[in-house]
Amino acid sequence: MADLLSQLEALATGARAAIAAAPDEKGLEELRVRFLGKKGELSQVLRGMGQLPAGERPRVGEVANRVRDEVEGLLADGKRRLETKALEAELAGAPIDVTLAGRRLLPRGHRHPITRATEDISAIFARLGYEVASGPEIELDWFNFEALNLPPDHPARDMQDTFYVEESTLRAGVKPGSVLLRTHTSPVQVRSMKRLGKAPVRIICPGRVYRSDYDQTHSPMFHQVEGLCVDEGITFADLKGTLAAFARAYFGPGTRTRFRPSYFPFTEPSAEVDVSCTICGGTGRKDGKRCGTCKETGWLEVLGAGMVHPRVLENGGIDSKRHTGFAFGMGVERMAMLRYGIDDLRLYFENDLRFLSQF
Ligand code: DAH
Repeated sequence: MADLLSQLEALATGARAAIAAAPDEKGLEELRVRFLGKKGELSQVLRGMGQLPAGERPRVGEVANRVRDEVEGLLADGKRRLETKALEAELAGAPIDVTLAGRRLLPRGHRHPITRATEDISAIFARLGYEVASGPEIELDWFNFEALNLPPDHPARDMQDTFYVEESTLRAGVKPGSVLLRTHTSPVQVRSMKRLGKAPVRIICPGRVYRSDYDQTHSPMFHQVEGLCVDEGITFADLKGTLAAFARAYFGPGTRTRFRPSYFPFTEPSAEVDVSCTICGGTGRKDGKRCGTCKETGWLEVLGAGMVHPRVLENGGIDSKRHTGFAFGMGVERMAMLRYGIDDLRLYFENDLRFLSQF
């Protein structure tokens, strides 16, 4: 028995020294296996207990338990000591700067080129004193056509292939064919005049419009920006000055404008407005070759405009003897195509990030 007890004593002494000297947690784990493991030193000593007379076993067992408890305690203390040491070393080392800006791991989203063009156009007119107005995309025939001087049999209605709201979905009492998807933003002209009830009116209206059309340059849904300015003494010179200033702000300071006579039922006189080609600078030639964008003419058609027809003013509740006004309408897709050199309208709607992320 004395033999076993001295072996246990020696084990405890050895463990105390070894655990105190352990350099790290891995070293501690090795010591745990060496002293307390299944094939460790303590198990080895206890195996000898079988040879002892039954009366001596409890005493040896008691000492063995005490030694095991002590070694377990020493291992736990050693672990805590090493953790504290590691923490102190970290605190004493180079500081972590928590104010350092985060690194961007994910790409940020950004605005669609149509949204961006709409915002750019609106911002230019905001500087000229225009307010942003809006109207419904599901519109009444009256605002979309009739109030704009296009009576039911007017041939210009065929210029715009219209989507009508199906008869079966209309509320009882609503005349068939009187509700449609607006084909342009012009109905907002009459809505705005009626809402304000008096001059001056100075609004732009960006928004979606719909026509039954689909090819490389037409989409069944596209975007327009409408403009309307009504006051006493507004003339065609105001229209020219406003649109020339807009063209320079949007396409660049050297941009020239040209007005060609045209026809719209809601304006008289009417004009189509061209800007000098944004690709070739108005020369018609690019890199010694024919400019395909303006087809060598040096000009690009960008919008329709004119002096508001007196009947339209009256439909908006404005006295056409006292007031005059001008209006204009432009396609946002086209404006962005010409500014960024985009050649296929369908790219806007395919949501291919390789296209969208260029803007
Ligand atoms: N609404 C016309 C269209 O969609 C564009 C337009 C032309 C608007 C002349 C106007 C205007 O306000 O005066 O083709």
